[in-house]
Amino acid sequence: MPCSQYRYENDELMCESLSLSALAKQFGTPLYVYSKSAILDAFNVYQTILRDTPHMVCYALKANANLAIIELLAQAGAGFDIVSGGELARVLAAGGNPQKVIYSGVGKTAKEIAFALEHDIHCFNVESIPELDRIQEVAAGMGKVAPISVRINPNVDAKTHPYISTGLKNNKFGVAYDDCVALYQKARTLPNIKITGIDCHIGSQITQASPYLDAADKILDLVEKLQAEGIELEHIDFGGGIGVRYEESDTPIDMQHLILALKDKLHARGFGHLTMVFEPGRSIIANSGCLLMQTQYIKQTEVKNFLITDASMAEMARPALYEAWMPIYETTKHADRPSQIYEVVGPVCESSDWLGKERPLAVEVGDYLAMMVAGAYGMSMASNYNARPRPAEIMIDNETAHVIRERETIESLWSNEHLLLKR
Ligand code: LLP
Repeated sequence: MPCSQYRYENDELMCESLSLSALAKQFGTPLYVYSKSAILDAFNVYQTILRDTPHMVCYALKANANLAIIELLAQAGAGFDIVSGGELARVLAAGGNPQKVIYSGVGKTAKEIAFALEHDIHCFNVESIPELDRIQEVAAGMGKVAPISVRINPNVDAKTHPYISTGLKNNKFGVAYDDCVALYQKARTLPNIKITGIDCHIGSQITQASPYLDAADKILDLVEKLQAEGIELEHIDFGGGIGVRYEESDTPIDMQHLILALKDKLHARGFGHLTMVFEPGRSIIANSGCLLMQTQYIKQTEVKNFLITDASMAEMARPALYEAWMPIYETTKHADRPSQIYEVVGPVCESSDWLGKERPLAVEVGDYLAMMVAGAYGMSMASNYNARPRPAEIMIDNETAHVIRERETIESLWSNEHLLLKR
């Protein structure tokens, strides 16, 4: 199991003190369930390792932006990494502190920049010269000074799925390494820009420490060059991307080891006073969540047994998009039943609508399944494809299940649409 909050008790899979089968019955499926204490535990791993260093842990909202999750992390002291005006609005609606918000992303619009400046965010992670120019222009128009950090592209291979690798030359992200000093020099001359940091995010679901350490060396080389130019920084942002264990064979990074190694590098070059910033999404929220679904049909064909559930790529896109392997368990174990090998699929009309391949499961129609490690990039990437209302989300706090998002109604799916003919 991904974390101590999930375990079998008398053959029933539990989240904290509650049975997942009972929750599925009570709230219906598909259903996202999160453990509150698992979220806090994961956040506190960062906080504990970094406790005696100036630091800021900015949860990357894109992994899961439910207001209650933002609220919980804000209360625990988190900052937030956002990539849109919508995500900033979510932070504000959940009571998060905008002064702990860093704004990443290659396509910030003038409207979004103005919104962020209005709320005095911590900094913009600038990804190009035209973006720097735009931030200067918007800030000047508002009579404000915009704090910026430059997202460098270190050209380091994060050794992860190509769709979630971001720190290579051919990715759209960050400023080409060799252009960074010139960008800082330009930024220094702009009256409405204040340079505060440097940043880098090389990819997601990274399971080796070496790409981080290589990227850190490159960042620190730049920090030295900038210092020689008289440009002093306040923080270094190492990005997010720490991977989790989906398959037994995945070997997640030893966080203590990695963060202390980064800290040592800072100290070795005389930059121990700089604030260390991280932008983790998956490593904070993935393990806390599961997606519950119900077996609808068992369809045996000449070549395969399909287990058709009421969850699909619309609720969990990771297998369809990245061929991601997600763990799937029975919520009730039946030791007396024979298991069969299934392809677990959903009802959506696409052959890419699968959730798991070659899974040994002992199930009958009506039984519930739990896809584990589903807290990150599950609900946040859910769609209404095939006119499917998005699932409810509940947060478990020991014996209490809080509904943190109602299941969408069918009618809400067309609430913003207009007919051509009046009826
Ligand atoms: N900071 C920036 C600038 C990012 O682009 C991302 C993720 C993060 C932080 C957080 O990364 P994390 O700690 O969660 O790995 N949908 C994909 C993952 C896309 C990640 C995009 N950027 C998936 O389901 O695997």
